[in-house]
Amino acid sequence: MNLLVLGSGGREHALVWKLSKERRVNNLYCAPGNPGMEEAILVNLDLNNNSELLKFAISNDIDLTIVGPEQPLVNGIVDEFRANGSLIFGPTAKASALEGSKLFAKELMQKYSIPTAEYRSFDKSAEAFDFVSEETVPCVIKASGLAAGKGVIICNSVEDAKEAINNMMIEKKFGDAGNLILIEELMQGEEASILVVTDGENYTILPSAQDHKRVNDGDEGLNTGGMGAYSPAPIVTDDMLRTIESTIIKPTIDAMSSENIPYSGVLYVGIMITSDGPKVVEYNVRFGDPEAQAIIPLIGTEFLDLLLASANGDISSIALSESDKSSTCIVLSSEGYPGSYKKGVKIEGLDEDFSSAVVIFHAGTDKKDLSYVTDGGRVLNIVAIGDTLEASIKGSYAGVRKINFEGMHYRKDIGSKGIAYIRNNLT
Ligand code: AMP
Ligand code: GLY
Repeated sequence: MNLLVLGSGGREHALVWKLSKERRVNNLYCAPGNPGMEEAILVNLDLNNNSELLKFAISNDIDLTIVGPEQPLVNGIVDEFRANGSLIFGPTAKASALEGSKLFAKELMQKYSIPTAEYRSFDKSAEAFDFVSEETVPCVIKASGLAAGKGVIICNSVEDAKEAINNMMIEKKFGDAGNLILIEELMQGEEASILVVTDGENYTILPSAQDHKRVNDGDEGLNTGGMGAYSPAPIVTDDMLRTIESTIIKPTIDAMSSENIPYSGVLYVGIMITSDGPKVVEYNVRFGDPEAQAIIPLIGTEFLDLLLASANGDISSIALSESDKSSTCIVLSSEGYPGSYKKGVKIEGLDEDFSSAVVIFHAGTDKKDLSYVTDGGRVLNIVAIGDTLEASIKGSYAGVRKINFEGMHYRKDIGSKGIAYIRNNLT
């Protein structure tokens, strides 16, 4: 088989790494990929150009295309490939509205009684300004459209809320994504990421995970794409997972089907475990990054079959096996990220001897004169598998200590909430 993975980050490197272990795979391409993906043939294609991507897939006999990021999905790449008989894993443009339009997602949840934060939507800034008051803060203000993970502002005061509305609706800091905004109740609790692969009707739940969105230890500082993840997340107990499945996962997949917008591909549900039970924070129509880097190494050899079956519309015959081990991913980022940062900084240590339990997924790297240099905000992902969460955390930090570049930043507390949960629930 020939496979094409679209994207260039750590998530895509994890996909490429996993798929490269398949003996059935002949040519494994990644577009545009990154130079750390030694397992793949890199092709320089524009992810926003559906017809260029389709032409490549057809002329290279691609048997399955796997889409990493959300933008091509929202742009309708799945529709275009399907219309031309080229097999592709992911949701259609209409179904991608679960991530591409936060208003669509909220209206669906409201209609089908899927638990989520209370919200109001506004397309006129004057009405949004009028709505915020001492009674409506704290709140969360969100641009409805895609804003590269940056369009969510937690507002603790009326002043913060007014500034967020001004930035989104008047200054247009997120472009058209902020033409419509949501003002949501601020939910309290611990977050977890639940990813399922579905064919529109059946679904397979992947190992749970927890992301670390803030840039600094103790969840301080700005929101990022994610600074690390571990899997499975002990807070998602079997009981909790059953509740999430029956109140959120199944109702969401059924709701999309009832609306005649069947959802296939991977559905990522960001969950807040509140004192009233689990509630949806957001839907994403793709694998999470860095969750994928932690989850994928725990998944069995049926992974490619599952993706193929989802793309073909029936996953019912695939029984996915998963490891009973734990996995932790630490993100190494450039100084300044998520703000501005330097590129081209030489990375030392990648050729050290790493334990066989460690895997390194590249994200923002480039190659210059045969050595790797930084080329992005999130540079590398150091993943380790261990018998316990604690062992996987230790293993990944042991890997981190072998690597160095000027300004290298990483969180020192990845997984600590999981450890605290285990300690507090030992009895
Ligand atoms: P999103 O981009 O929608 O994942 O939002 C980014 C982060 O903002 C989430 O991971 C949560 O930490 C936080 N967040 C979003 N919506 C809410 C909410 N209604 N209540 C509390 N936190 C939220
Ligand atoms: N880790 C968060 C995301 O992929 O959106």
